[in-house]
Amino acid sequence: MTSALLVPLALQGLAMLVDEAWFHRRRGLPRWERIGHPLDTLTIALCLGWLLVAPRDTALPVYLGLAMFSTLFVTKDEPVHARLCGAGEHWLHAILFVLHPIVLAAFALLWWTEHTQILAGQLAVTLAFCGYQVIYWNFVRGEAKPVNNAWYADLGPRWYEAEDTPIALLRAESRHRNPWIADQITGVLGAAPQRVLDLGCGAGFLSNFLATRGHHVTGIDTTAENLAVAAAYDRTSSVRYEVGDACALPFPDASFDVVCAMDLLEHVEQPARLVGEVRRVLRPGGLFLFHTFNRTWQADLIVIKGVELFVKNTPEHLHVKRLFITPDELRQMLDDRDLDTVTVLGSRPRFRWPLWRMLLTGKVGNDFAFTFTPSTKLGFTGIARRRVTLPTSSSTTGI
Ligand SMILES: C[S@@+](CC[C@H](N)C(=O)[O-])C[C@H]1O[C@@H](n2cnc3c(N)ncnc32)[C@H](O)[C@@H]1O
Repeated sequence: MTSALLVPLALQGLAMLVDEAWFHRRRGLPRWERIGHPLDTLTIALCLGWLLVAPRDTALPVYLGLAMFSTLFVTKDEPVHARLCGAGEHWLHAILFVLHPIVLAAFALLWWTEHTQILAGQLAVTLAFCGYQVIYWNFVRGEAKPVNNAWYADLGPRWYEAEDTPIALLRAESRHRNPWIADQITGVLGAAPQRVLDLGCGAGFLSNFLATRGHHVTGIDTTAENLAVAAAYDRTSSVRYEVGDACALPFPDASFDVVCAMDLLEHVEQPARLVGEVRRVLRPGGLFLFHTFNRTWQADLIVIKGVELFVKNTPEHLHVKRLFITPDELRQMLDDRDLDTVTVLGSRPRFRWPLWRMLLTGKVGNDFAFTFTPSTKLGFTGIARRRVTLPTSSSTTGI
């Protein structure tokens, strides 16, 4: 009987260890979780402590109340998890939520059968874990690193001209992607000009290109300095540039045929909010085109550490790995918001002389080139389409 009661305790301990050592350490914890997780642990310690000190005849009713409070309390982080966690971590949390009341029931049975030494041992482990959570997350590891979005503001004309900066890599990516994007828009929606919204448009590499193809383009970015460069290089003088946040768009529902987010998803803390806004402003049947980086060790090594090491004038935290997204995570995020992923292509630099020259000189020449590849291990470009919801039979028949 006693050993059977220890099974849920062991399973919970194992699941918490995996959650902490694998998921939390990989993604980092925002302030809410850095305070909230030790409080979760404290509610369990409270249950155990009560069982150890309470008078035997009145212990259970209060314990029941504490156990129910703890079971509900540990679910409080779900709005944060919905934004930050992948499918694997959600699955592990589901297991932990199921185990939580079972473990608390096991404590009650251990108390009933007078195994107070086991409960005291469990209380010591729980308090030690709580201490670790407070100290490690709030004093050792601290706040998750923010991505450096401020760096772009001072680039000015260097957005379009400089070779001794990683912005030249973004230019090379745009040279490769822009004609493909224009072809996809025409291929799916036809040759007519479309209403295009370019999110996080920066200096307008894509916006200005699509304007030359006759589209009605709006570019938004949080940084006015970037938009000033974009407008200065807009040969059509037709692009509407506006300061705005891609996670809270100042546009009405269904007001665009195409929304683009090139190298933006890895620059926002809440990509799910951004995708929600994309869905809202996109008309049914409209296209969402994106490019971002995969959260793999290969991308960490090449896109972050490689660029920092080899490309001149790369600032700190131009990219941070925790904000990279796997294709599966993005696909799920899109699917949850009525956006069907229709294409995902990997991309990488071409293994030609301009790449080797960059490694030798730290400069990215205007002949540096990217190519699409089946492997999405580094970065990936994709298209999703907003679902068209058919009217229900009652509305079609007028009943
Ligand atoms: C890597 S640059 C990409 C620029 C452009 N999309 C391109 O491909 O050339 C990222 C841009 O996103 C902008 N940005 C970051 N967070 C944003 C947000 N929440 N809303 C709009 N723009 C944002 C930055 O100011 C920066 O110009």
